[in-house]
Order: sequence, then C-alpha cells, then structure tokens
Amino acid sequence: MILIDGKKIAAEIREELKKEVSQLKKKNNQAPGLTVILIGDLAPSQIYVRMKEKAANEVGLKSEIIKYPNDVEEKTVLDKIDELNKDSLVSGILVQLPLPKHIDKKKVIEKISPSKDVDGFHPINVGNLSSGYESTVPCTPLGCYLLIKKYEKNLNGKKAVVIGRSNLNGKPMMQLLLKENCTVTITHSKTKDLKAECLEADIIVAAVGIPELVKADWIKKDAIVIDVGINKTEKGIVGDVAFDEVSKIAKALTPVPGGVGPMTIACLLKNTVECFKRLQN
Ligand code: GUN
Repeated sequence: MILIDGKKIAAEIREELKKEVSQLKKKNNQAPGLTVILIGDLAPSQIYVRMKEKAANEVGLKSEIIKYPNDVEEKTVLDKIDELNKDSLVSGILVQLPLPKHIDKKKVIEKISPSKDVDGFHPINVGNLSSGYESTVPCTPLGCYLLIKKYEKNLNGKKAVVIGRSNLNGKPMMQLLLKENCTVTITHSKTKDLKAECLEADIIVAAVGIPELVKADWIKKDAIVIDVGINKTEKGIVGDVAFDEVSKIAKALTPVPGGVGPMTIACLLKNTVECFKRLQN
C-alpha cells in the first residue's frame, strides 16, 4: 500500500511557491498578500487561521489576520471586505467559516471580489469551475485532486465515488474528477447503499465528517482512497476512513493527520499566488 504523504507533497508545493514568490516580488516590487478574516473564538478556526498565517509567511506572502468578536455586526464585515477588495496590496481574501448565525454566509461570500476569492466559494468561481473555465478552485478538493494525480496520471474512465456533497468539498471535487473524464458518483446521507457504491470505485474521496465510516469491505482492491475527514473522537483525531483495515486493501491511502490537511493550506497559498498574478496582468 502506498501511504500518500500529503505533508511531504505539500512541503514540495510550498518550496516551489517560495521560489515563485521571490521572483514575483522582484518583478512587481510587491508580495502577494493574503488577508484572513476571523470572526469569533471557535478554537478550531483559530488554530486553522494561525496555521494559514504561518504557512503564508514561510513562503514570503504578506499575510494579515483581521479578528472580530462573535457579535460583530454583519455590515462591519461587509464594509471591511469592500475595503479589502479595493486594496491593491491585498491579492486574496478568506473569511474563515463557520460564521456566527447572525451573519449571512451567502452575503459575505458574494461580497468578496471573485478575483480575490482564494477559497473559490464565490458563485462566479463555482460557475466557472462547473463550466470547465478557468477559476479559483476550493483549496481542499484541489489538494485532494493533486494527491490523486500524483499517483494516477491518467484518470480517463475511472470510477470515482465522492462521499459528501458540500460546497466546500464534495461538489467541487466532483467537478475536478469530471474534468479528468472520471465517471463520478456523488453520494450523501440519503444514498441507499453507500457500501455498494464504494465497492465499484477506483477512487474514493471521503468528505462526510463521520469517523471511520469507510471500512475495508467497502473497498475494491487497488482503489485510491482520499480521506478528508478530521473527526475528534475518544481515541483522538480520526478520518472518515477506518485507516488500519483499509490500508490492507487499498492501493493508496491518505493518513489523518498528514494527508489532505497540509495540502489544503498549500493550495490556499497557491491560489493566493495565482490571484496575485491574474491581478497584475
Ligand atoms: N473552514 C473550514 N474549511 C474552510 C475553508 O476551506 N475555507 C474557509 N474560508 N473556511 C473554512
């Protein structure tokens, strides 16, 4: 079994980006800038945002975190996004999700200029991805896609099963696999026989948030299995895939942690650099 080392592959991407950022800085007299807005005090969000800032700084991006308390008015956030949209030193804007209930996620996402939307959540980017046009692709599915491509260059006609239909992961993942000519099945909580669907798959992407849902007897021999899950359990953090048993069947599998997580951050940096380059042109 190949253990897909997301940590190592992400480090390689960051190393490449570091070189590219250094050249871009020389050429443009300006570093690509990533601004993250963090609302409230949710511990996981705080940890993720800190990790994003650290990684951004390491590759030479200019990074900034804007923090608001949980009860910040929606208008304050929308006005700030407006200001950042106009700021030529800001290439990428990310509003960390989830948001407090009184803030309308749709309004926030639509306020971000599509050209600075490093998350790829804006309807313009979502539409461009689904139409097969150039777009910013959400970081986690992009990271999964790069991991799959690392081990399987030709995805033509492969059967892929995506577990989970979120806007963050499942849906963009489906688009990326479809673009590679996979036959994609997108599954969810109402899917009748998930095990039977998985047993057909050459590629499984599990992004559903159920600890160790995918078992060894759900997996076709030689399948590539990508685990997006990060679930807190009594025995620590586990993915959506029962790692120990699935590792005995699958051809390649991502660990949790050290699989998809580091790729998400690397892809955020990559998206920021791409937004910068497009804004400069
Ligand atoms: N919260 C969890 N994952 C993400 C992500 O990819 N982007 C944003 N903005 N918030 C998140």
